[in-house]
Amino acid sequence: MASPSRLVPIDLLVAGAAELATPEGRAARGGAELGKIKVVPRGAVAIRAERIVAVGPEAELRAAFEPAATLDARGGTLVPGFVDAHTHPVFAGTREEEFEQRTQGRTYLEIAQAGGGILASVRAVRATSAEQLLVTLLVRLGRFLEVGTTTLEAKSGYGLSLADELKSLEVLAEAGRRQPVEIVPTFLGAHEIPPEFRGRKADYVALLCDEMLPRIAEQHLAEYCDAFAEAHTFDLADTRRLFERARELGLGLRLHADQLSALGGAELAAELSAASADHLEHVSASGIAALARAGIVPVLCPLVPLYLRQEREAPARRMIEAGLAPALATDFNPGSCYLQSLREVLPWGALRYRMSVAECLTAATLNAACSLGRGHEIGSLEAEKRADLVVLDLPNHRHLCYELGRNPVRAVVVRGRVVLERDPLARR
Ligand code: NIG
Ligand code: FE
Repeated sequence: MASPSRLVPIDLLVAGAAELATPEGRAARGGAELGKIKVVPRGAVAIRAERIVAVGPEAELRAAFEPAATLDARGGTLVPGFVDAHTHPVFAGTREEEFEQRTQGRTYLEIAQAGGGILASVRAVRATSAEQLLVTLLVRLGRFLEVGTTTLEAKSGYGLSLADELKSLEVLAEAGRRQPVEIVPTFLGAHEIPPEFRGRKADYVALLCDEMLPRIAEQHLAEYCDAFAEAHTFDLADTRRLFERARELGLGLRLHADQLSALGGAELAAELSAASADHLEHVSASGIAALARAGIVPVLCPLVPLYLRQEREAPARRMIEAGLAPALATDFNPGSCYLQSLREVLPWGALRYRMSVAECLTAATLNAACSLGRGHEIGSLEAEKRADLVVLDLPNHRHLCYELGRNPVRAVVVRGRVVLERDPLARR
């Protein structure tokens, strides 16, 4: 046995796992690479300060390191922290009556055109103070952490005025300082045309470009700019104008593309080198080819068409065959998907998109991280990356897609700190 002096001191050893499963690398993995992950039986993770020092079989790590503390995975599975690359978590009130109306046959578009949908949430956010929005958001972030999400892309978009968009983004920034989930803020002022600009869309686009974007960029309140490009909201010319301005101001681009109709959003996202093109239920063959040529991550949200009772789903397999590197996301929002658990999205990636478990895991971690410009920092369990990981009460990674409905998260580590630990005995 090595003498203790030969062992390298570390802060934390995550041990006692039946298995460790992770994608590898710093770039998004597409095509045949999407499903190639590393699986280590009895795998463990050595952590010093915020970083992973080593990943490998527990016996090897125990022979090399002297941990100050150990987190016992109790026969569970270790995976990277989940990275949810598309959410709308800053809202007040909920819209369960619209959900019921859709089960009765009313469509998302009909509800929106009658002044419900996004505009219903806009009325609620405008009537809510920053303090109250913050309280609600912090509760939601606590739930994201409980289900293993360690990085969250979070959009504004229920304010739609300078003051209410600033309020939403400031609340996101404050929430980011108060709890462990890392927030990546996105400005989605182009989510809908606000009621006071009805029939004057061009004036609203001018407000977005000339006042809102410069203020937000100046105050560093958003990393990305997004738009809901649809026939009833912002057309491709509006979106192009907004995105060119956003790029000038140093923001990255993400786009709600081809969600409800085949507008050509994917082609525009490719042309403007967006960081992601999201939804894509109606993407065309040329849209897929354009995304592949430009190397853009499609962020797919398989629960949304189900929630909207929309038949058309994103052609995920065709995208993967074209070499694309998809991410999976919840799209958590009060209208088209009231679900916070990205883990719970994985079975739907398997069942609806025919993605393998390994493909789903890569999509919900490394590829999502790459779409957020963080592939070098997070998204996989590898030496030098930030120590964000989840201990799952699952015997192997295949159960990630196999089991529905129970939250299997046993512990969460963020930046090398155990930020959540549940007592498994209490749940038996
Ligand atoms: O991603 N498509 C636009 N935005 C959301 C829905 C937001 C809402 O209905 O409140 C989405 O589906
Ligand atoms: Fe969305």
